[in-house]
Amino acid sequence: MRKDVNTPILTKKLRSYGQSDFYPLHMPGHKRRVFGQMPEEVLQMDITEIDGFDNLHQPEGILQELQEHAAALYGAEETFYLVNGSTCGILSAISAAVPEGGHILIARNCHKSVYHACYLRNLVISYLYPELLEAYDICEPITCRQVQEALEREPDIDAVLVVSPTYEGRIADIEKIAGVVHAKGIPLIVDEAHGAHLGFAEGFAQNSCRLGADLVIHSVHKTLPAMTQTALLHVNGDLIDRNKLRRFLHIYQSSSPSYVLMASIENALWQVQIQGREMFDKFIHRWEKMCDMLSTMRNLSILPTGEKQDIGKLLVSVKKTGLSGQQLYGMLLEEFHIQLEMAAPSYVLAMFTVGDDEDGYVRMTEALLEIDARLEKGSCEIASDKYAQQPVHIRQSVNVDQPDVAGQPAADLKPVSIPFFKAWDKETQWCELSECCGRYAGEFINLYPPGTPMVVPGERIDSGLITRIADYLRKGLTVQGIRQVSGGIYLSVITLES
Ligand SMILES: Cc1ncc(COP(=O)(O)O)c(C=O)c1O
Repeated sequence: MRKDVNTPILTKKLRSYGQSDFYPLHMPGHKRRVFGQMPEEVLQMDITEIDGFDNLHQPEGILQELQEHAAALYGAEETFYLVNGSTCGILSAISAAVPEGGHILIARNCHKSVYHACYLRNLVISYLYPELLEAYDICEPITCRQVQEALEREPDIDAVLVVSPTYEGRIADIEKIAGVVHAKGIPLIVDEAHGAHLGFAEGFAQNSCRLGADLVIHSVHKTLPAMTQTALLHVNGDLIDRNKLRRFLHIYQSSSPSYVLMASIENALWQVQIQGREMFDKFIHRWEKMCDMLSTMRNLSILPTGEKQDIGKLLVSVKKTGLSGQQLYGMLLEEFHIQLEMAAPSYVLAMFTVGDDEDGYVRMTEALLEIDARLEKGSCEIASDKYAQQPVHIRQSVNVDQPDVAGQPAADLKPVSIPFFKAWDKETQWCELSECCGRYAGEFINLYPPGTPMVVPGERIDSGLITRIADYLRKGLTVQGIRQVSGGIYLSVITLES
């Protein structure tokens, strides 16, 4: 751990350099001066790899010191600062952990960056299908048993990747999973993008670096007070070739990493170190108070926090009401000016972090209690037509009333028909929704957010998927990867001859 914790050293150095008389005959082009509307303070700190400021791609000075500090804080052997988000950490981790053309076992509800890494490295994918938490229509975390059974079924797997916490906050038992993965002599990668705060306070689960994972990826920007794109990649043990990992970080990260972003990572971790206890205690206290008040609701319901559910992800279910998630989302946005993280057919998701003040909790609590009271009286008017059900025309009638898990694949899509890395390169054509049954998907289809795929290129399209797409569109949700032209809905399918 860094001895001098009284100052964020990079942040301080950048600020004083910005005010010095050193003339910048180097990039970036703004030369630390204001052009247009960007704030001067940010521009003054925005430098490149000049003397005294080290180089992220070959750190030996101040950046190396910061990375060592981050490693000590999270209990990792080695940590890398990332300025291209967890996305580049995941690309690098998979590329280093699995040989080109190798075989990876992944949770089916992974972020798209996992699929992108598999495509770039021609990997064969086997899936772990999360169980469903039916009361809330979300995926449970992957279990140790699921991993063990898959590894026994497919002994040639080179690495395992699970996501924990999930986008909705479900937490896996990483310690046990690491045990079964290591028993096979292969590495465990944990996409902990939503868990940069883990391990820092009593109510939080432990972070996966301290639970035996070989590679752990954190988006600092998601749950700690840091700027967008800031992230960390941690590595432990000797199952990962560190030189290879560095090589892939060179490939996937910008050659001009932003010092403003790196200072933002430093600053967030510095806050954790010097003020963490007070900051997280306040956070947990406000969170618990809000959840207590919301637990009195009679129509809307919240997913309780606990060992398997992270603090900070407020999932509000509309299942017992006549509202859709999108309608609740729209009411909170338009009437109460509260912008949520996402809406799914049967719930909405709000994210709270140490960055929220009392006002955020009070406003959300009051808004939800008021909507709940209106539902009780049967006088809940929808704020805007924009969030009401939309007519969706497809030629063949489909049943849109079946239960659903937002953005997740149907269980009957399990057999992957064409390996994804091959399928994504095949010739495709647009096909009207009702005629897609039995065809192979040519493109990802995601509900956005969170961007986890409902269908992966190469998977066979079935009636369940067609039903869900129609249902999502009817509910006004954003479905990515489809085309809507002149009232028709089209999916990309692999052309029959290809
Ligand atoms: C589970 C998960 N992993 C990885 C990512 C990618 O993170 P980033 O936006 O930091 O690149 C996301 C983004 O939303 C995510 O939800």
